[in-house]
Amino acid sequence: MSKSEYLGYPNDYAGEPMPTDEMVRLCKQHTMYTWSAGNSVDPLPIARAEGVYLYTPEGKRILDFNAQLMSVLIGHAHPKVIAAMKRQLDELIFVYPQTATQVRARLAKLMHEVVPGMESFFFTLGGAEANENAIRMARLFTGRNKILARYRSYHGGTNLTMMLTGDPRRWASEPGSPGIVHVMDPTPYNYSFGKTDEERCEAHLTYLEEVIQYEGPHTIAAMIVETVTGTNGVLVPPKGWFKKLRAMLDKHGILLICDEVMAGMGRTGKMLAYEHFDVVPDMVTLAKGLTSSYFPLGCVGVNSKIAEHFKKNVYWGGLTYNSHPVGLATAEAVIRVMMDEGMIENAARMGKVMRDEMDRLQKKHPSVAEGRNIGLFGMMDIRKNSKGDAIAPYNGTHPAMNELAKFFRDKGLFTFSRWSSFTCNPPLSITEEQLREGFAIIDEGLAITDRAFEG
Ligand SMILES: Cc1ncc(COP(=O)(O)O)c(C=O)c1O
Repeated sequence: MSKSEYLGYPNDYAGEPMPTDEMVRLCKQHTMYTWSAGNSVDPLPIARAEGVYLYTPEGKRILDFNAQLMSVLIGHAHPKVIAAMKRQLDELIFVYPQTATQVRARLAKLMHEVVPGMESFFFTLGGAEANENAIRMARLFTGRNKILARYRSYHGGTNLTMMLTGDPRRWASEPGSPGIVHVMDPTPYNYSFGKTDEERCEAHLTYLEEVIQYEGPHTIAAMIVETVTGTNGVLVPPKGWFKKLRAMLDKHGILLICDEVMAGMGRTGKMLAYEHFDVVPDMVTLAKGLTSSYFPLGCVGVNSKIAEHFKKNVYWGGLTYNSHPVGLATAEAVIRVMMDEGMIENAARMGKVMRDEMDRLQKKHPSVAEGRNIGLFGMMDIRKNSKGDAIAPYNGTHPAMNELAKFFRDKGLFTFSRWSSFTCNPPLSITEEQLREGFAIIDEGLAITDRAFEG
């Protein structure tokens, strides 16, 4: 008898299914949950997932209206991706980064074709590591230290990326690494840079130029922006802003890094969100949708100038799992599925349906302040009065929002609700019928926040 069999585990390593209560108890007792005190977590028991649906161990069907962490873009358990992963497991599971492999070569060619303007790619295990490496590359390339980042942003959970992050998740990790300067967005809450897009661009870029002058342009290596801000609001920049930003940064020799960990890989109806704005950054970071979360993988894409630089100069960075063959095979299969099944086109088409539903709900429910979306990247804001005040304070909660979140869960709609907003980010494979099914539940739930509306 093997040692593990002696301890009560079966000899096929598969394990016996355990009762749901016991599963939840063990997960809570012996694992830590993210961004929360363990005792306050009520984990959702999940047994399997397929397409746009999750299933509890008891077989209850849940519509995944957030693609988990806005990341399972092609939907769950796509057979072609699973087959490609299995093939890679049979062929070659792992070799160290200083090797050449078939899968690395194939994905390199594919990425070069589908990620506009990027010449070379550095693979990581996720988004935070991608941003960490992008910042290091920017510093090494420019010989400068400071980084501009925005308040309405999230860039990852490691020390440096927490410091890049503008939202309250940063606070507990401070003080962190120096040299990061936060600036306002062109569309901050409760403050206006102007009423029209033109006014906003002009006022915001004047403000930004002033910050750059105070910091010293020659000290700033890069500015990192989420091309479309994700968890901090699904904020699409004002028309014309990106191009002008790019020109301003260029003037000062400051690199532009687009964090597309959430917005990239088709979410907005184009492969890269920056394609909407007619700009090409110096670097882009990707993760999440890159493998649709079937395997942990992220990457930094760099333009030809930066790629050339690191052909001649040492890149002082590495990871054991850089260019992990199974991750690369997964990304390759995911990108091909996206292209072959027209998922990005579907995201653009379904984005119109989402717009239509959001407009309908905004007209019908007094508590809806606004619905924003670009492609299938969406968020709805709830207000407490007709002045438009958010129902919950910044970084706070409101009982009606908690009740709404519980309603969604009870009704089998998986989404994220935070502060005064909830997200609408289903997999890109969703059909119109499924999308409307989700909004029908939202429609019903908004009666809760309407009751809290003060008029
Ligand atoms: C815009 C953005 N950047 C970076 C990250 C960090 O990615 P990861 O959690 O894979 O490290 C996230 C994760 O939510 C993100 O949304």
